Amino acid sequence: MAATRNSSFDNPFYQPADKFFPANNKIGLTFDDITLATLYSEILPRDTQLDTRLADNLHLHIPAISSDMDTVTESRMAIAMALNGGLGLIHYNMPERQQISEVSRVKNHVHGLIQEPIKVSPEQFIGDVLAIIEQKKFAFGTFPVVDEIGKLVGLLSGHVVKPRYAKLKVSEALTPRSQVHTIVQKELGKDPIARADKFFTEHLGIHKLLVVDEDDHLHGLITMSDVERITQERKAQFKPARDAQFRLVCGAAVSATRNAFGELDRERILTHVGALVERGADVVAVSTAHGHSKGVGDTVKVLREAFPRLPIIAGNVTSAAGVEYLADCGANAIKVGQGPGSICTTRIVAGVGIPQMTALYICAQAAAKKKVSILADGGITKSGDIVKALTLAQAVICGGMFAGCTEAPGEVMEIGGKLYKQYRGMGSLAAMKAGSAARYGHEKADTTRKLAAEGIEALKESVGSVDRVLAQLIGGIQSGMGYLGAANLEQLRQKARYIRVSPAGQREAAPHDVVELKTGN
Ligand code: XMP
Repeated sequence: MAATRNSSFDNPFYQPADKFFPANNKIGLTFDDITLATLYSEILPRDTQLDTRLADNLHLHIPAISSDMDTVTESRMAIAMALNGGLGLIHYNMPERQQISEVSRVKNHVHGLIQEPIKVSPEQFIGDVLAIIEQKKFAFGTFPVVDEIGKLVGLLSGHVVKPRYAKLKVSEALTPRSQVHTIVQKELGKDPIARADKFFTEHLGIHKLLVVDEDDHLHGLITMSDVERITQERKAQFKPARDAQFRLVCGAAVSATRNAFGELDRERILTHVGALVERGADVVAVSTAHGHSKGVGDTVKVLREAFPRLPIIAGNVTSAAGVEYLADCGANAIKVGQGPGSICTTRIVAGVGIPQMTALYICAQAAAKKKVSILADGGITKSGDIVKALTLAQAVICGGMFAGCTEAPGEVMEIGGKLYKQYRGMGSLAAMKAGSAARYGHEKADTTRKLAAEGIEALKESVGSVDRVLAQLIGGIQSGMGYLGAANLEQLRQKARYIRVSPAGQREAAPHDVVELKTGN
């Protein structure tokens, strides 16, 4: 007997977006207000594809973006996001020069290549090297040896870095240049790891490969253990997000900067974005709290005119009119979300903002008409929220989910035996004083007087690496897609059917009536 795939009994209850949201048009709904109905499935979660297209020339392998916030995304986070197939947006609460070099760091990152290895000089004593290892707690003992102009002199092997040789000079103990294995930088080609892998196979017992330029200046170090780890990782389903030149993708946020007369500072914006593009930025995000505004629209227009092929993200909005406006100005992807963020107080302070699922549905209508994508920005606290958001949006932007990761800026602090990292809203007083005031429509000069903060300063529990967090999130998204019989995100958007959840239903959805011993993670 053929499996029963659909039943008309379901239809009055579990409705597709175009019926469900208009039928609930008197109330703003967010993630926990709704749940998705399961569907007949032949799709295993592990076989689902998460590729997403944000603009003609911006594709990701997973639909996840880290927020352009000063406690979330700098180069380390952007590298980790891109290596996992997603995207990081480098925040703008730093001097423009610094933001440009953060982008460079991501674009120049070669996975597995230590670009600035710790070096020693021939004049140092082995005893000095031992002291440095002890002081800096290095877990390795082999060091390239370079002269004062950075030219390779040899390799100091871990076998000779021993207290018994403390009085010897590095120059007396090193493996000389002629016996050190090197590769010229440009011979690494498009896939340095594959090249290094081949080298290690062909050179029995050699575990380190030094990278030099034509003049023999040291430019990096590749170790066999890194290559083996990465080769293993490559078997993973989701490939790193790369540009046409095999570099990791990277985005940067910009604001609608004004000059001393309060006018849009076209020249400064163009110079800044020009430098970001020159360094290889794949996308810029014009990030403000109120995207449906003249300043943001004009900034997008200026950028679109000057950089016709550059993918532009703009926001934030929560209305169809906002999406249409920014799309008409030239944006490719629109950030949707006003006040859902875990550190946001916009709805409390300003009394505005729309619960996220309703905002996403309305914006998705306009986005489909204008052929732009939308990004669900803020309010995501679990993988189930992402699945719900992806029934309407092309990707999600998360701050809080990543702020506790090792790769987020800031130090880990210990409080009461637990480890935390700082996480603050870009509209918090501290962040605005550090530069993000324009995002909230305040002048720089306002920072000397009292501003109306629209965000708080908080802590997030330290959660380890981005790899670990994303593995959990991706597992959840794939699981949701399996329940809906969706092989890819397009099918997820087409197939989703929704129903509202009562307060008792919300309680039922979380663990209840048990003493929890271990969380799902
Ligand atoms: P989550 O929930 O992922 O939200 O922590 C991150 C998003 O929140 C936005 N954002 C703010 N919104 N006041 C706000 O109203 C703020 O201070 C603030 N800082 C960030 C932003 O869209 C981010 O991606």
